[in-house]
Amino acid sequence: TARRPLIAGNWKMNGGLAQVDGLAGALARRLADTAERPFDMLVCPPATLVAAVAGEVLGSPLMVGGQDCHTAESGAHTGDIAAAMLRELGASHVIVGHSERRADHGEDDATVKAKAEAALAAGLVAIVCIGETLAQRDAGETLAVNRRQLVGSLPAGATPANTVIAYEPVWAIGTGRTASPEQAQEVHAMIRQVLGESLGAEAAGAMRLLYGGSMKPGNAAELMAQPDIDGGLIGGASLKVDDFWAIAQAV
Ligand code: G3H
Repeated sequence: TARRPLIAGNWKMNGGLAQVDGLAGALARRLADTAERPFDMLVCPPATLVAAVAGEVLGSPLMVGGQDCHTAESGAHTGDIAAAMLRELGASHVIVGHSERRADHGEDDATVKAKAEAALAAGLVAIVCIGETLAQRDAGETLAVNRRQLVGSLPAGATPANTVIAYEPVWAIGTGRTASPEQAQEVHAMIRQVLGESLGAEAAGAMRLLYGGSMKPGNAAELMAQPDIDGGLIGGASLKVDDFWAIAQAV
């Protein structure tokens, strides 16, 4: 595959100053010691740590991202963070539309699309998350739900350089229950087909599609061996240096 895998860690609401050196710094040092590196690596710490992590890994290929941004450039939105603010701190990416934000904060597809467009406008790569719940899967709605979320959340102006899609089945997040490689590939193939319909075959073929949901060293290789899976968005296992590194070795 011509697509360079992306190994992205989502720390969620975990980590403190100790993880700046202990996790991000440790990964940066491993990257520096690695001659063969057929993947890109990204960590998305809580917003409070973005500046410190970016400073820690300066000059390293390790990239830093945010976990969310607001739709607006600035304004009266207490507690929110604009994409340009993340960019100023050294972030290159931002996750938008994670299922935890969709559930905890009622974000719908239109909001996620607006956030992704705000990210692009600020020069960040948007990692747009979609995924079905267990009830939707059991009802046979998996492909329809993911298609709807993808079409509704895809930012205008999406290109393989500025947009990454992450498929995260909600029932697999933090549950220890992973989608089988076949289940994940089925959705990833549909995503690439739908991207082709809106962006053209060339762009769809070059865009990176990540799988997320209880990815760990033991299942990463078989997932990433699927033709349309180009890396992972990793939660729990991204908080452990050895596990996250082992997942990257599985590309
Ligand atoms: O963004 C990451 C996903 O929600 C996966 O989390 O690896 O802890 O299941 P997890």
